[in-house]
Amino acid sequence: MSLTMPYETLLRISEEINAVHDINTLLERIMDLALETLKAGRGFILLKNSSDTTSYEVVTMRNISRESVASIRDLSTSVVNQVLESGEALLSLDAQADNRFAGAESIVMQQIKSVMCTPLKTETRSLGAIYVDSRAAARRFDKESLTFLQAFAGQAALAISNTRLMEELQTENKKLKKQIVSGGLFPEIIGKSAPMIKIYDLIRDVADSTASILIEGESGTGKELVARALHVHSSRSNHPFLPIFCGSMAENLLESELFGHKKGAFTGASENKSGLFEEAHMGTLFLDEIADISMNIQTKLLRVIQEGETKRVGDNQLRHVDVRILSATNKDLWKEVEAGNFREDLYFRLNVIDIKMPPLRERTDDIPLLCAHFLKKYAQKNKKNVKRISPQAIRTLQAYGWPGNVRELENAVERAVIFARSSELGPELFQMRKSEAKLPIGKSLKEINKFAILQTIKMVDGNRTRAAEILGVSRRWLQYQLKEWGMVDGN
Ligand SMILES: Nc1ncnc2c1ncn2[C@@H]1O[C@H](COP(=O)(O)OP(=O)(O)OP(=O)(O)O)[C@@H](O)[C@H]1O
Ligand SMILES: [Mg+2]
Repeated sequence: MSLTMPYETLLRISEEINAVHDINTLLERIMDLALETLKAGRGFILLKNSSDTTSYEVVTMRNISRESVASIRDLSTSVVNQVLESGEALLSLDAQADNRFAGAESIVMQQIKSVMCTPLKTETRSLGAIYVDSRAAARRFDKESLTFLQAFAGQAALAISNTRLMEELQTENKKLKKQIVSGGLFPEIIGKSAPMIKIYDLIRDVADSTASILIEGESGTGKELVARALHVHSSRSNHPFLPIFCGSMAENLLESELFGHKKGAFTGASENKSGLFEEAHMGTLFLDEIADISMNIQTKLLRVIQEGETKRVGDNQLRHVDVRILSATNKDLWKEVEAGNFREDLYFRLNVIDIKMPPLRERTDDIPLLCAHFLKKYAQKNKKNVKRISPQAIRTLQAYGWPGNVRELENAVERAVIFARSSELGPELFQMRKSEAKLPIGKSLKEINKFAILQTIKMVDGNRTRAAEILGVSRRWLQYQLKEWGMVDGN
C-alpha cells in the first residue's frame, strides 16, 4: 500500500478515537479505521478478559465468521498466538508461501494471502491484539502498512485503556452514590433527588476539613441532621458534638453557656463553670439559629474563632481551644449583614463553606421515600398496622407547598398513621385540603417564580417541552434555569 501523508491520517484517527467515550463504540471505530486505511478485507480485535487475564476474547470482527476466527486462533503456530506470545508485530506478504505458517490449516483453508497482526499494548500493559488480512491478493500490505498499523495500535491501546479506566471509575462512582442513597454513608438523611445527592457530595468533600461551615435553609429542611453528619464524618467524631440553640436565649445565659463563668462573676454564679467552647475541645460546636445572637456575643465569638482562645466571664485566664464551628440559620444571614444586624467579619469567619438545604417543594421526588420512612417509624411507635400510602395521597402531598418542609411532612404522616383505620393511608387522612399547589407566599419573588416553574413541570409529569410551552418560555431557557438550580437529571 502507499499511504499518502500517514502522519496526518494517524493524527486524524487519533483525534477521532479519543473523542469516543464508550468502549464498544470505540472498538468498532478502531476496527473500521484499520480496515479502511489499510484496505484490508477482514479483521478482528482480541482483548484480554477482564476477569481472567490469561485468556483472550474476540471483541470486534469484520467480514469474518466466528469459526474462522476460532481456527485462526487455535493453531499454536498461528499468527495471533505468535503475536500474543512474543509481543511483536507480524507481517506476511504472501502467507501461502510463508514458511512460518507451513502446516497452518487456517491459512490454506481460508485462502489468506496477506496478513498483519500487532499487539495492542500500552507502556505498562498488554491488552490484546489487532488482526487484519486480505484474501484478494498477496502483497496487499507492505512494511509501511505494518509501521502504520503499529502506530495506530499504540493510539488505539491508549484510548481503550483510558476508556476502560473511565468506565471503571464511573461504575465505582455510581456504586458509591447508591450506597449513600441506600443508607450507606448517611443513613439518617433520607432522599435521593438531585439536590440531595449534591448535599451528600458536599458533606463528603468538606466533612473532614477544619473550615467553618454555615448551613442555611428554611425551617425543617434538615440543617441539624447535616450538622451531625458533618461531625460524624470528620476525624473529630471521637470528640464531642455540642449543639447550642442561640435563638431566643437571654444574652447573659448564652454568654455563660458558650464561654463559661468564674464563681461570683454575676449574681447566681455560685460555681466556676466551663463553657461549651472548652467542652467541645477537639470536637465540634454547632451554633444553631446563629442569626439571632447579640452584637456583644458576636464580638466575643469572633475573638475566640480568631485567637483560638476563650475566656470565662469574670475571669482573665485565657484557655486554648481547638473547636470546629458549624452554624445554621433559617434566615438569609447576608441580608442580616446588610441590614447591620450581623458583623460582616464574623459572617465571613462562619461562612468559609456554605451549605444551602433545598426546601421540600424543590425535591418532591423524595416525598414517597420520606413518607415510607416516617410511615414505618410511626406505625412501629404507635403499634399500628399501617403498611402503605396510596398513590393518590402521594400526589396530594407532592402538590402541596410544605412551608414547614420535612418536619411538617413528618408531622402530617404521624398524624395520618394515628388516625388510620386501614393498612393504607389515603388522601383523606392528610389535611392539605386543596390538591393544587399553594404558592409560597411570604417568600421572595425569585422563590415564588422557582416554585411556579417546578410545579408546572410536575403537573405535566416532567415533560419539559410541554412545561416550556405552558410557561411561555423556550425549552432551552427552561433547561438553563434547571441547570442553574442544580436540578438537571443525572447531576
Ligand atoms: N432529609 C431528611 N431525612 C429524614 N428526616 C429529615 C430530613 N430532613 C429533616 N428531617 C427531619 O425533620 C425534622 C427537622 O429536621 P432538622 O431539625 O434537622 O431541621 P432544621 O433545618 O434544623 O429545622 P429548624 O430550622 O426548624 O431548626 C427532624 O425530625 C428531622 O429528623
Ligand atoms: Mg434546627
